[in-house]
Amino acid sequence: MGNGGAASFSLFALIDRENQTSRREIRVPYLLSVLAYNDTTSAVEGMRELRKKSEEAYGEGDYIPPVAVVYWSFRVMVGLGFVFIFFSFWGLWLWWRGRLPQCLPFHRVALSMILLPVFANTAGWIVTEMGRQPWVVYGLLKTTDGISPIVGSTTIWISMIGFTVIYGVLAAAGAYLIHRLGHPDAHLAGEGGQSGDHAY
Ligand code: HEM
Repeated sequence: MGNGGAASFSLFALIDRENQTSRREIRVPYLLSVLAYNDTTSAVEGMRELRKKSEEAYGEGDYIPPVAVVYWSFRVMVGLGFVFIFFSFWGLWLWWRGRLPQCLPFHRVALSMILLPVFANTAGWIVTEMGRQPWVVYGLLKTTDGISPIVGSTTIWISMIGFTVIYGVLAAAGAYLIHRLGHPDAHLAGEGGQSGDHAY
């Protein structure tokens, strides 16, 4: 936040967009200045100052994006990023000690984490798409002006439902195949019962 001095980084907070404030925050002193300017003294402009500047430059309007969604999506993305980093170090350490193949807890955790990169990706995408609101192109084109006059809401619904069905079928087929190949007896299928062959 812009406080005329070094800016702290908010790790966690409850966002109150209505009153433009946050509660129950955990802050790390100086970190936002370091992230933004690589020093511990620079001030970082807050949303209210940036909004005032935007209004001066582009006219009246709401220039603050949906803060809570962007704030938490960013933390989900970065949090998962750190989970992946620590998990990779665990795997590296096991590999170094020669225990990677037989460490069952590692394999169980790995399996349970399969969908997490998808969540991290989605959270990252939400950060950028919602974080740049109300702009499609910052300073040049607002989202409200970017709406095509020839593409109606029915067309959008049809393509949304179409894509959802197509990707839903592909996801189901993928899940089925992965499940089949991962089955303990998979290596026996179609191999005349020979053991030792791989399923792939
Ligand atoms: C480890 C900590 C991470 C940091 C510090 C970080 C940082 C960032 C930042 C600053 C942006 C916004 C970039 C912009 O303004 O255009 C971003 C976007 C994004 N991040 Fe992360 N990220 C992290 C981890 C991850 C992980 C683990 C994933 C996925 C597995 C991910 C996926 C994405 C995606 C998909 C976007 C949107 C890209 C776009 O639409 O241009 N991030 N990330």
